Amino acid sequence: MKKTVRDVDVRDKRVFLRCDFNVPLDDSGVITDDRRIVSALPTIKYLMEQGARTIVASHLGRPKGVADMKYSLAPVANRLSELLGTEVIFVSEPEVVGPAVKDAAEALEPGSVMLIENVRFRPEETKNDPSFSSELASLADIFVNDAFGTAHRAHCSTAGVADFLPAVSGFLLEKEIRFFSGLLEDPEKPFTAVLGGSKVADKIPLIENLLDKVDTILIGGGMAYTLLKAKGYEIGTSLLDEDSIQLSIDIMKKAEEKNVKMLLPVDTVCAKEFKNDSPSVCVDVDKIPADMMGLDIGEKTQKLYRKVIMESATVVWNGPAGVFEMDNFAAGTKAIAQAMNDTKAVTVIGGGDSAAAVRKFGLEEGISHISTGGGASLEFLEGKKLPGVECLQDK
Ligand code: 3PG
Repeated sequence: MKKTVRDVDVRDKRVFLRCDFNVPLDDSGVITDDRRIVSALPTIKYLMEQGARTIVASHLGRPKGVADMKYSLAPVANRLSELLGTEVIFVSEPEVVGPAVKDAAEALEPGSVMLIENVRFRPEETKNDPSFSSELASLADIFVNDAFGTAHRAHCSTAGVADFLPAVSGFLLEKEIRFFSGLLEDPEKPFTAVLGGSKVADKIPLIENLLDKVDTILIGGGMAYTLLKAKGYEIGTSLLDEDSIQLSIDIMKKAEEKNVKMLLPVDTVCAKEFKNDSPSVCVDVDKIPADMMGLDIGEKTQKLYRKVIMESATVVWNGPAGVFEMDNFAAGTKAIAQAMNDTKAVTVIGGGDSAAAVRKFGLEEGISHISTGGGASLEFLEGKKLPGVECLQDK
């Protein structure tokens, strides 16, 4: 167990709070989804109430070590101020920690919050260079990491700074770890994993790690067609990852040996072109026309998968079942999201595309936990250690 912000006295202290405010912006710099900011509010409000002097840091995008103002955190500062209903002092310096930031941090009143500029403006950040970690640490007395979405990165602001300051987790990081550890350590059975996405190879470490824990794996998305091909089906022009056929045969064999049911789609919605308005047909997987590609799971598969999800006690979902961004191929992903909502099981959604899908369908309400971290949740479920968690003090 890692120490949390509750385990340290933050009153009057300067707290370096790392959040993941890597939020999507439209072309005019307007935030199109502020959930990562909203998710950090409990920790920020707690620090304010406790009378800490909070210096918040984050990255935004990948500015590659230069102060490209397209990636400035200015829009985040505005949104955070609005959400908190109080001014967040934003000090934007190209060097991130410059004289103005040092002065502002020094002058910060108890209970107030300031935000510094995108830490990735500095090339040292992603190299976890101790000199920049020590610059960041020099602003504060305590490091609170609440950036679950970036916890899989060993960077200065997510891990390196812990070499210089006592390090604890914030409430969001704590919650994410609680849900994901729950899945890996003590899941209530039957435990089902719903996996999608395009490439089998990308999901092999995840499947390998889950095979010892789950009872059933439901496969959807582009990866399903490589697995179907490996089973001997003709998949027309569907997405095929030739190099992963042997990998697919091996993983299905492993699942069988471990008594894990790995279900593949029994029917699929096909079209000639990868376009929303391309005319589609739903066929059984042994009848995929040679000139068509599968773009979604069919109705029979939706029913089959729903039944498994409804009868599960724990369900984790990573990767959409079809091309949900196109309305005509979104039904399969929507059916999964609906089942995740309707089941009494503990339901956890890895961030990224599946999280975007439940939001698109407005089906977030009944889900136990929707992660704020795509890559981080995937690495956690693969059994990897996350540097942003490992660096924190044990209880
Ligand atoms: C994410 O959005 O997955 C995190 O913020 C990490 O961003 P990165 O992949 O650029 O490190």
